[in-house]
Amino acid sequence: MNTARTNNYIPPDTIDEIRTRTNIVEVVSECGVPLRPAGRDYKGLCPFHDEKTPSFTVSVQKQIFYCFGCQTGGNVISFIQKHEGKSFRETVEWLAERLNISLPSQDAREVANRKRFSSLEDLNRFAVEYYHQQLLTEGASTSARQYLKHRGVHPKTVRFFQLGYAKSGRRDLVKVATDKGFTIQQLVDAGLIKDEDRGPQDRFWNRVLFPICNERGVPVAFGGRSLSEEHQPKYLNSPATVLYDKSNLLYNLDKARQSIYKQQRVLLVEGYMDALMLYQSGIENVVASSGTSLSENHARLLKRFAPEVVIVYDGDASGLRAAHRGLDRVLAEGLRVRIALLPAGEDPDSFTRQHGADAFTELTDRAINLIEFQIQAAIQQQDIHRIDVKAQVVREITETLLNLKSRVELSEYVKYTARELHVDAGVIWQELRDAGLKEEQTPQNIRRAKRAPEKLSPRAQVEIQLIETLIQSPSLIPQVKSKLHYQVFTEPRFSRIAQLLWEASTDEESVDIQALISECPDEQLGALISNTLLRRTPPPNLQQARVEGCLSKLRDFLLQDREQRVRSNALAEGTDEMIILRELVELSNERRALTTHPSEESEG
Ligand code: UTP
Ligand code: MN
Repeated sequence: MNTARTNNYIPPDTIDEIRTRTNIVEVVSECGVPLRPAGRDYKGLCPFHDEKTPSFTVSVQKQIFYCFGCQTGGNVISFIQKHEGKSFRETVEWLAERLNISLPSQDAREVANRKRFSSLEDLNRFAVEYYHQQLLTEGASTSARQYLKHRGVHPKTVRFFQLGYAKSGRRDLVKVATDKGFTIQQLVDAGLIKDEDRGPQDRFWNRVLFPICNERGVPVAFGGRSLSEEHQPKYLNSPATVLYDKSNLLYNLDKARQSIYKQQRVLLVEGYMDALMLYQSGIENVVASSGTSLSENHARLLKRFAPEVVIVYDGDASGLRAAHRGLDRVLAEGLRVRIALLPAGEDPDSFTRQHGADAFTELTDRAINLIEFQIQAAIQQQDIHRIDVKAQVVREITETLLNLKSRVELSEYVKYTARELHVDAGVIWQELRDAGLKEEQTPQNIRRAKRAPEKLSPRAQVEIQLIETLIQSPSLIPQVKSKLHYQVFTEPRFSRIAQLLWEASTDEESVDIQALISECPDEQLGALISNTLLRRTPPPNLQQARVEGCLSKLRDFLLQDREQRVRSNALAEGTDEMIILRELVELSNERRALTTHPSEESEG
């Protein structure tokens, strides 16, 4: 347990060094986002949403970015994480390499594993190139080239996907790879050959090969398509290896990721050919699950790139109901799931070839939500008017609903389910509670949560003003921290920022807001901080006055709160009236003092 932690550990000092030595403007440009100087900042078209006029701003001085169009923001690390889909560690490693900073070395076993992995990666690259050249140049591959042509795969696509061909020899790869210096053991470890009774033999022969890459574009396995009905199975895949775990990998994610990110949606199909042909026809945000069902790992992987997956099922997919049951767990990962059904007998490849890419897009645009799908499937398949059937369906739907992360969605789907199944919404809420739904997720609270972001309460407005002022002028934090507990903030996200600020600030040292963005547990908060930083900071005396103003208003709100509590206590318990009265008088005096001398409070 502990070793994993030490292996992943990068000292904060190193992260600091990497951050301070990196220029965000250079990195953003290197990532293919053109920027132009605009005053003291740089501007460009936002890579995170489609726009015609640049609202993506990068500040050299503050080393942050913010898009005024889509409210995405952060520092150089969050930029790379978002834009390249890298994890925090991968990002830091990438930046370190760029600066020639060596990260503290990992333990010996880790280093040995790295070596082993990278030699297997080299071997896979070699195999991809070898098989690809076989397809392009060898006389014996005419049938394979004709097969691909017949299926409508353009030569450009063959090159882009590095499709290959394994001829009918049983020891072709064994020979060239060992000549090249790779060992039999490495070939076995990479799943490329089998070394059994008859000696080492190639796994793939007489098959068109689809290289399978991980999300970074490193080839880790192959899918091999037979050219004839007689040669079974239709697809032969690499076995699981140290590099390849199919529950963790989606075909084409490396090529699709940019487009997935732009569209904020990923299309999931079943077959290699489906993904490849859609890509060829211009639909690039597509990945294939290679015949397995979507796992939690897949969901976690996809969620790094987009909030929504549209699963495209073949029209004749058997056991649809069984298939979508497992999707509850995908929902639980917080990925939105929608489902598109193809006409019977079609798969995405055949459909697109027949009806065109626009028709396919239209079909995926009309995809229905998992819950709608589940309800429709239940209604179609069963006699929904029978009470026992209806009760069973409600229970099943409840299971799915419990996995919804968004409360707003939950409330909407309860309404939808109630309407479609002709049951009372209250019944479904009761089912949900019986099945373990937390109290704070009941309708009244959802309505409250829904309204909050639209308009802040007067008190929350004061809170956010205070927080913004402190982000711009961190030197003012200590004086506020001594008067206000971070839990006082009404909005949980404000409390969290305040907590971060309070914890980061000491009397000796000013808060490093950059570090704060890196540590920020929540993307939205990070964006809020960078947005605030990008605004011009008012002069210090104004900031001081602002903080004092906010503090006194907040004190007033707090006193009102207390007054409220005292009053309701008085009503509820019938405690000594004199004590209550005295307390109320004190409170109201305090409040009066506040409003007449607002600045005294904070100078003390
Ligand atoms: P399909 O049987 O739907 O094939 O399998 P397909 O993708 O339409 O292939 P073509 O168009 O006939 O060439 C869907 C996926 O299931 C996996 C493969 O990943 C395939 O792309 N599969 C299928 C196998 O792994 N082995 C098989 O024998 C069949
Ligand atoms: Mn097909």
